[in-house]
Amino acid sequence: MKKKLIVFSGAGMSAESGVKTFRGGDGLWENYRIEEVATPEAWSTDPELVSRFYNERRKQIMECSPNEAHRIIASLESQFEVLVITQNIDDLHERAGSSKVIHLHGNIRWAKSSGPNQEAAYYPINGWELTQKDQCPEGYRLRPHVVWFGEEVPLYAKALEEIPTADIFIVIGTSLMVYPAAGLIHYLNPRCDAYLVDPNSHELDVPTRFACLAETAVEGMKKMKKKLIF
Ligand SMILES: NC(=O)c1ccc[n+]([C@@H]2O[C@H](COP(=O)([O-])OP(=O)(O)OC[C@H]3O[C@@H](n4cnc5c(N)ncnc54)[C@H](O)[C@@H]3O)[C@@H](O)[C@H]2O)c1
Repeated sequence: MKKKLIVFSGAGMSAESGVKTFRGGDGLWENYRIEEVATPEAWSTDPELVSRFYNERRKQIMECSPNEAHRIIASLESQFEVLVITQNIDDLHERAGSSKVIHLHGNIRWAKSSGPNQEAAYYPINGWELTQKDQCPEGYRLRPHVVWFGEEVPLYAKALEEIPTADIFIVIGTSLMVYPAAGLIHYLNPRCDAYLVDPNSHELDVPTRFACLAETAVEGMKKMKKKLIF
């Protein structure tokens, strides 16, 4: 039986694909304040601004390609039962070939209703633009399928169920500051081998059982692959 490998990724995973991280640089995300674009209040106040922000992000992500770290993770499926739990809203893990991906914070290539029953159905977005005219069958405007700050994380319970089943766990490219997602790293089983890959690993708050690699995603995953497949 294959060992189970769970990869828990964040924005740093896609940095070498050209997608900016969240807390890098000046504290703004692509020149916007989070409250302006990534909260339910922002959507109520100015849905056009929020839509424009996510349309820009979607367009940018569609122009980016998976990096070698995404590809290495996908390739590990030949040796391990791999599950990716990502905080990223990009689809670069899937495009690299990963077959099991839980998007804790949603997927920007999809939309959902802004009405009362938001998790009932998700709709693929054709192209990069979601407009005012795009509506669900009940007539509510479609919004990006992303979890905004202050919202429930619908897939958290599913992720929490998976975490203790890991034999190997790799945290990669996340500052571990966004909760409840960051709390998942505390539910590993005692026999699981835990690793952290992040150029700023020394600044991150992980339990002492984690072996830390102060590397970018690409360099770190090259080393991890050598370590895991000897
Ligand atoms: N690609 C995306 O989909 C994307 C991009 C930005 C933000 N977000 C969202 O914003 C939230 C941000 O939290 P977060 O913890 O994921 O991101 P974050 O920006 O808070 O932290 C990024 C982490 O990545 C590390 N990093 C920077 N460059 C790296 C590289 N080349 N290789 C590996 N690691 C690198 C940083 O040291 C940092 O620890 C997430 O919940 C996510 O939904 C998503």
